Amino acid sequence: MKEGSHVIVLPFPAQGHITPMSQFCKRLASKGLKLTLVLVSDNPSPPYKTEHDSIAVVPISNGFEEGEERSQDLDDYMERVEASIKNSLPKLIEDMKLSGNPPRALVYDSTMPWLLDVAHTYGLSGAVFFTQPWIVSAIYYHVFKGSFSVPSTKYGHSTLASLPSFPMLNANDLPSFLCESSSYPYILRTVIDQLSNIDRVDIVLCNTFDKLEEKLLKWVQSVWPVLNIGPTVPSMYLDKRLPEDKNYGFSLFGAKVAECMEWLNLKQPSSVVYVSFGSLVVLKEDQLIELAAGLKQSGHFFLWVVRGGEKNKLPENYIEEIGEKGLIVSWSPQLEVLTHKSIGCFLTHCGWNSTLEGLSLGVPMIGMPHWADQPTNAKFMEDVWKVGVRVKANGDGFVRRGEIVRRVGEVMEGEKVPKRIVSFVKMTVRKYDVVSTKIPKSIVVFNRTPCPSFSDF
Ligand code: UDX
Repeated sequence: MKEGSHVIVLPFPAQGHITPMSQFCKRLASKGLKLTLVLVSDNPSPPYKTEHDSIAVVPISNGFEEGEERSQDLDDYMERVEASIKNSLPKLIEDMKLSGNPPRALVYDSTMPWLLDVAHTYGLSGAVFFTQPWIVSAIYYHVFKGSFSVPSTKYGHSTLASLPSFPMLNANDLPSFLCESSSYPYILRTVIDQLSNIDRVDIVLCNTFDKLEEKLLKWVQSVWPVLNIGPTVPSMYLDKRLPEDKNYGFSLFGAKVAECMEWLNLKQPSSVVYVSFGSLVVLKEDQLIELAAGLKQSGHFFLWVVRGGEKNKLPENYIEEIGEKGLIVSWSPQLEVLTHKSIGCFLTHCGWNSTLEGLSLGVPMIGMPHWADQPTNAKFMEDVWKVGVRVKANGDGFVRRGEIVRRVGEVMEGEKVPKRIVSFVKMTVRKYDVVSTKIPKSIVVFNRTPCPSFSDF
């Protein structure tokens, strides 16, 4: 694409999607392209320029009226978002053409495959962006093609699934939606449909890197025009350079950046367990209590992100009891934290961004997956990339405190996982911190979750 060409980028409105796609915008801007980042939002404000002249942000409605009570039903939410985008995007494109700034391409989130037709109808090239790895997309593709039948229940199933270029997979290594079809019919259809029109897409982008999924890529690249553009972790973190600004940049939802960093600064190298489950996972109360007990019993220092209302579920007096052993925050500057030398391991839900961040920054992981692509990411993290361990859950998916203590000990004290894994991306570092720009607080996205990428966007 020629310098100065205009590209629209449209992520699905969830943090794990906005983060990598907005980082990708920065990269395109650094190559001389003009970008419009379209953000689906609760409260769309007028379009505005960011600090970088080449990137404009256009907030559009998620389909809910101001003040309208929003159900927490994800299926309902996604249907509203689809209808709203289909309504506003064509007009936006027409307006851009009329104002002499016609877009050449639409980079759209793979979870919204219907955007390809919008792009082609209005004369734009369509580039699909996968925020999940190929190991997950390939499974969905085989399901879509009917060449893979999913075991009907998640647990207590001994069937092993065999797929080309994959290790044998258990039912609980598969993306959860495949095994929970009745709970999320729209989402199930969406994840499988992601690949329904991939043969017509002009270019296929994925937030992964070649070395990581080498085996599978041979096949993937032989069938589709694939470009792996990950990891979209800003390269200053990969180079272990923390921001010089002592406020550690702009924090949209009030991550207690200084509090976290000052606490970590007082700890010995590799002595702290960092615990975070991303922006969407909500632990059930009994699981949260069990995890709290396990972390306390482990005897290690821990920095734990307990989001919003979850804090009320913690055992009474827990914060007083753990004292200096633990710091609990509602949101952390995760990249800064993972870069900090005091971090010894990362207890994670294995969301794809978190997994890539752990891999890229060389932090051993303990996987405690919950849903979506996380079980598959956790399987590969433990058995294929061998950069961590995965907690074993009971038949009902519950993880006991003893298992937490055992796994933390294994990674923090044992030999099973190297103390500091070698960063997987040394050879493939991409420059993702070339543009510095900020997005105001008025942009509120899905579920009012924090927007970490904006702190360094
Ligand atoms: C979701 C899915 O869970 C994930 O599996 C999918 O691949 C993408 O969408 P999420 O659950 O939010 O995302 O997890 P993840 O993909 O790990 O993204 C969370 C992001 O928030 C990461 O970039 C992480 O650095 C950031 N974060 C998380 C913070 O900055 N601070 C925190 O306290 C927690």
